[in-house]
Amino acid sequence: MTTSPWRRFFDEFAPRYDDEVFTKNTAAEVEFIIEHTGTPPGGAILDLGCGTGRHSVPLALAGFLVTGVDLSEGMLEIAERRAQQAGVSVEFVRANAVEFTRPDAFDTVICLCEGSFGLLSEGDDAIKRDATILRNIAVSLKPGGVVILNALSALRAVRAATEDAVASGRFDPMTLTERSDAHDLLPDAAFSIELRERFYTAPELRHMAEAAGLSVRGVYGGTAGNWGFRPVTLDDYELMLVATK
Ligand SMILES: C[S@@+](CC[C@H](N)C(=O)[O-])C[C@H]1O[C@@H](n2cnc3c(N)ncnc32)[C@H](O)[C@@H]1O
Repeated sequence: MTTSPWRRFFDEFAPRYDDEVFTKNTAAEVEFIIEHTGTPPGGAILDLGCGTGRHSVPLALAGFLVTGVDLSEGMLEIAERRAQQAGVSVEFVRANAVEFTRPDAFDTVICLCEGSFGLLSEGDDAIKRDATILRNIAVSLKPGGVVILNALSALRAVRAATEDAVASGRFDPMTLTERSDAHDLLPDAAFSIELRERFYTAPELRHMAEAAGLSVRGVYGGTAGNWGFRPVTLDDYELMLVATK
């Protein structure tokens, strides 16, 4: 499996992940998924970059057949424990979203809070890499299936970028990527490791989804904890793509 600095980062982050404020609206997010994907009762859901299973487990409790895919053993251990404690069965798979497909298997795919999308590894082509993930999602969806996917919004990132950040190579306007160190995100991390994130505009995301063979319902402002079918604002951290196969 391809190595990713994000795997190490999330292994370290895992024990604290569910303390983060952006994880606190999970119940409302799960309700939103159930209401707006139209997943049939008992239908199959792929949670790509499932993390600690905060969506996978309640969706399984609601009667869906859930597969959670993630790169990080640390995150998956917590997800497995969460499922055990809830007394529910979830299929957890350690895999890279760039490589994972299961053709025509899922009624719904969720890829939330940058569950792999936009989290680049060194050497990844910043333009092509996430297009592969979208194609894999399209392959894995059943015809008529629905995907909800979050991506970091470039509008906010560009407004926050400085000339210094561009000059130092920290923010690259040509690829809409930002480099940071694990310490910037986890100040007490026991290691230093360079991370790279990719930001998106709504029209780019729409175009990529269409190129992957998906039919786009819309791209909305989708910051965690504040989902809705509303226009993207300059302050949204994330975009939310909703599309069907
Ligand atoms: C910010 S967390 C989001 C977790 C979950 N979706 C949520 O909403 O809380 C990102 C997750 O994506 C996983 N991840 C990062 N890169 C990945 C990749 N290439 N393939 C699969 N999972 C990946 C990380 O291990 C981490 O668990």
